Amino acid sequence: MTTILRDWSYQYQWFYDTVSALAALSVGGENRFRKLFLKDLQINPDAKVLDLCCGAGQATQELVQHFSEVTGLDASPIAIKRAQQRVPQAKYVEAFAEKMPFSDRSFDLVITSTAMHEMEPEQLQQIIQEVYRVLSQNGQFIIIDFHSPTNPLFWLPIATFLWLFETETAWQLLKTDLHQLLHQTGFKVEACQLYAGGSLQVLRSRK
Ligand SMILES: C[S@@+](CC[C@H](N)C(=O)[O-])C[C@H]1O[C@@H](n2cnc3c(N)ncnc32)[C@H](O)[C@@H]1O
Repeated sequence: MTTILRDWSYQYQWFYDTVSALAALSVGGENRFRKLFLKDLQINPDAKVLDLCCGAGQATQELVQHFSEVTGLDASPIAIKRAQQRVPQAKYVEAFAEKMPFSDRSFDLVITSTAMHEMEPEQLQQIIQEVYRVLSQNGQFIIIDFHSPTNPLFWLPIATFLWLFETETAWQLLKTDLHQLLHQTGFKVEACQLYAGGSLQVLRSRK
């Protein structure tokens, strides 16, 4: 179940950015939201970083402030074009996350921001396996995405958001045990930080 607003958010970048900025108010604003992955992250500026499902480069923009070698990957040519315009410092690859055109151990850090909720369960499993493959030993994988609220007051806002802008896969993610999926692929889950009454997670794992 979704609405026409989902199509508009992908069609009109200004609409996506406005919705994203409004949703980010729940964690203190877009600027704070885009920096959440930095908490407890040991930054090696020379690390090779992949922004998985980079969209129009919103997270890529933050990543290039800290890392010199950033690659954005997305399946949408329109998104890649927008990301290239927004963040020309990064490299971009148009591809599917479940079949990445990178050799084994190509990256030290993979980040995916608000994209895994778009994946079917089987696809999600394939993507986690692919991330494991392209990460170097000890490399980190950070997932930023929806989470089932721990504060009941946040159920109404997240349910409204999912109803307006998302599809069934986002609801499925709320029920998915990502820790288990990561663990069974070989990742060690290091931390899961919750925000916005538990409705947003930053899940850190290591190969
Ligand atoms: C909600 S947007 C998130 C964009 C950005 N990461 C952000 O933080 O705003 C999800 C993105 O995932 C991309 N995407 C969806 N399925 C994909 C797949 N199987 N492989 C690669 N990209 C995919 C879409 O094209 C879209 O740009």
